[in-house]
Amino acid sequence: MEKQGWRCRKLVLVPCPFQGHINPMLQLGTILHSKGFSITVAHAQFNSPQTSNHPDFIFQSLADGISSKPDIPRDFLAFMSSLNLNCRAPFQEFLSQMIGKQEQQDELPCIIYDALMYFAEAVSSHLKLPSIILQTGSVTTMLTYFAYPRLQEEGYIPPQDSNSTELVPGLHLLRFKDLPSNTFDDLDPTLQLIAILSNIGSSSAIVWNSMDCLEQSSLAQYQQQFRVPNLSIGPMHKIASASSSSLLEEDSSCISWLNKQGHNSVIYVSFGSIASVDAKELTEMAWGLNNSKQPFLWVIRPDPDNGAEPTDWLPDEFKETLGERGYIVKWAPQQEVLAHTAVGGFWSHCGWNSTIESISEGVPMICRPCFGDQKVNTIYISQYTWSIGDMKHVLPLVESFHPYDRVGRAVSHKERLEVDRNLLNCASKQALTSLSTLLGEGFFLLTILRVKL
Ligand code: UDX
Repeated sequence: MEKQGWRCRKLVLVPCPFQGHINPMLQLGTILHSKGFSITVAHAQFNSPQTSNHPDFIFQSLADGISSKPDIPRDFLAFMSSLNLNCRAPFQEFLSQMIGKQEQQDELPCIIYDALMYFAEAVSSHLKLPSIILQTGSVTTMLTYFAYPRLQEEGYIPPQDSNSTELVPGLHLLRFKDLPSNTFDDLDPTLQLIAILSNIGSSSAIVWNSMDCLEQSSLAQYQQQFRVPNLSIGPMHKIASASSSSLLEEDSSCISWLNKQGHNSVIYVSFGSIASVDAKELTEMAWGLNNSKQPFLWVIRPDPDNGAEPTDWLPDEFKETLGERGYIVKWAPQQEVLAHTAVGGFWSHCGWNSTIESISEGVPMICRPCFGDQKVNTIYISQYTWSIGDMKHVLPLVESFHPYDRVGRAVSHKERLEVDRNLLNCASKQALTSLSTLLGEGFFLLTILRVKL
């Protein structure tokens, strides 16, 4: 078969089955579909995406052998390990059948997989298919993880006090308490995760849902370690059309409620799809919001295991005084909410998607990180490092554990931020063009080049 001019027009996407990972992967699919690529999504049965929201995609379910909901983040690594082990054979069978039906090499697919779904790289490499990694978190968090072996060797980790506010040598702004490990009692799981994330196998490029204007120096450092093209094409939700990839049903009634609120007046509260707070903290948050006297929109998810309603924990007195000033939903159309002019602040757990969605709309954030990368993101948000346009002067620094009394002040004193849209769009458009070129025309060439690097 003639290899020159091999054009990949078929893409097989392999998302990791959590909301914060499904969203960027399907956004990437939407963007590439609009550029003329055909999209197949090979997904685990666990948390399988809503196929009806993406009528242009083909969906292929992979038997994953998962029989019960994992306790995330506690069982994260064990869960990912089973998922990778179980999905490998069905994925290989699916791809082999797909290849068997192709008559010409230019119909062979390229695999784009979430960095955590490493079985996809093993299968692509085995079948000699090109592959690309999608990294769904920030480059800065990844570099923080990659510093662990050095820190361990130099005796800095495990730290004597994991809540230490001493700066970590060589990690710029981060204190020991901001490191992404959930515990230092056993470093093995973190080291295993680092090994997974740093093994790019035969993949020919890495795509980031990030922006050059936010993470240029981290990207440059990363590029030195991994000499395949690194393309930051975010914020993808601003390029992809708005079709939802929510696993939970969005309650759009909150938009009608927002329509009745004043400009920049509402504090939006959401801790993403995994993080949760206990009954005590929930009660504290309720009174903080109440005392702020600001209108608020609060996402409180039901417990995924037993469907219990955490809103039952809210004090009766709070519920009685809620009136029109507060609105509580189980799941919101978040991007629409953050883009709404009534929203003046976002009290967030600082998951990476929430962070870039808020930054893209210029919404100041109040940070309440719960685990992992959220702690790193919080520091870069609150120390004004991730600033775009005028943001430097206005992002509120509220990162103490119980910022309840500051909620009102943060919202009422801050204007919505002027985001430099040119800055946001330029870099991602350039990178997107590079990605299309990479896939559409130069892929084979780059694959060869990489071997020579
Ligand atoms: C997880 C990790 O917890 C996070 O730290 C990591 O960066 C990504 O994977 P999650 O906690 O769900 O993600 O947070 P986040 O990254 O913010 O993703 C949540 C997504 O759900 C966002 O795209 C957000 O727009 C969406 N969302 C959230 C809704 O659509 N409605 C809601 O009510 C809440």
